[in-house]
Amino acid sequence: MTPHLQAILAIITQTGQEPKSFAQNFVQEMELGLAGCGSSLAMYPTFVTLPSGKEQGRYMAVDFGGTQVRVALFELFGQGKFKLLRQSRFQLNSPDKDYRLSHVTGDELFLRLAQEVKTLIRDETAEALGLTFSFPFRQSCLSEAYLTNWTKEIATSNTEGRDIAAMFRHSLNKIGLSIPLTAVINDTVATHLAGSYTDSSTIAGIILGTGHNGSYLEPYHPLTGSSMLVNLECGNFNLLRATPWDEQLDRDSEKPGQQKLEKMVSGCYLEELAVIVLKEWAKANESGLCEALGRRLPCAVMAQLITLPSKEVKKAADLLDDHCGWQGDEETVQGLVQVIQTLLNRSATLAAGTILGILQKQQPIVGQKVRIAVDGSLYRCMPGYAAYLQAILAQEIQQQGVALRTIDDASALGAAIAAAQNIRVV
Ligand code: BGC
Repeated sequence: MTPHLQAILAIITQTGQEPKSFAQNFVQEMELGLAGCGSSLAMYPTFVTLPSGKEQGRYMAVDFGGTQVRVALFELFGQGKFKLLRQSRFQLNSPDKDYRLSHVTGDELFLRLAQEVKTLIRDETAEALGLTFSFPFRQSCLSEAYLTNWTKEIATSNTEGRDIAAMFRHSLNKIGLSIPLTAVINDTVATHLAGSYTDSSTIAGIILGTGHNGSYLEPYHPLTGSSMLVNLECGNFNLLRATPWDEQLDRDSEKPGQQKLEKMVSGCYLEELAVIVLKEWAKANESGLCEALGRRLPCAVMAQLITLPSKEVKKAADLLDDHCGWQGDEETVQGLVQVIQTLLNRSATLAAGTILGILQKQQPIVGQKVRIAVDGSLYRCMPGYAAYLQAILAQEIQQQGVALRTIDDASALGAAIAAAQNIRVV
């Protein structure tokens, strides 16, 4: 490895803060956010608590998390039992219309969602509908949700600042659907609820995918005096050390200054960050790779590259040729793989800090069985990522009984559970 590349990798690694000191700052920000004092953690009250286990009946769920939207029909039997009856998916960036862009309005977007609900439900009935909406929003009850700002580079117009629950209801009514929308929750909260429904030792929900966020249970929430899940919106945590390349990514993003932690951790931004770092290296390595890659290196390509054994440089080069038509030397390929791996390790180290902070805030009894529900493509699909994160946590926690757990269908199942919890309220 050249000294220049070595220096770049060292700078990245140094900004992957040691999880214990990260967690300390994180807990302080949690306290400040909860008290309503200035904090980079919004700590949104969610007006939903852990499931009682008695949630039963047929519920629709819409999972709106990014480019792919999923609509599902569940039967809940209570006590952690459920059946996914049927589901459909559609892409927001369909060839005829890209619903993520600012020339499309929120009203058009929710009408599209309502149409998908209508197609899936056919002529059956469901007790209620729940929406998992993976963006920051304010609530004063479970059935409303004022979008504060889009994240993850979605820019649909005339939506920020509005009650997206009311917009969705309006669209459902417009096409003759009378199903009540009783709950809007964040994806961390959905993951947390789905985790708790199936295992009561679940104390947090974590998302590591296109975005990054977490939720936990506040046993005596200052607003209500009773237990409530809190959506941290921790992608916006900003007590961080950043590299010049993180700063550049931030400056060039849709929302400079926002989502600083997310920009260092999540898949959506790692795709861009990898290219920015490569450009720095390209100052000394004129391989033409950056030009060929364009703005992003997709996570799916990164996953394939880091899985290949180091001897298989030729296969990695073929992969890049297939992806972007670049045909280059082995040294560049090896360097690229090292850049990707270093960024992924830093991401996992920072994510471990988030989890450690959430654990510290709740101080579980030593030896108690503790489960943290995790979802998201980075955690589930990036080779080695989950194992690396778990190894860091094991080093830091040294406490038996704490484990991360993934739950299938969590985002959609959580929406169905929340809808069931609120059925008599709306
Ligand atoms: C959003 C969060 C969401 C996270 C994971 C972030 O960009 O602000 O609300 O939970 O992504 O999807």
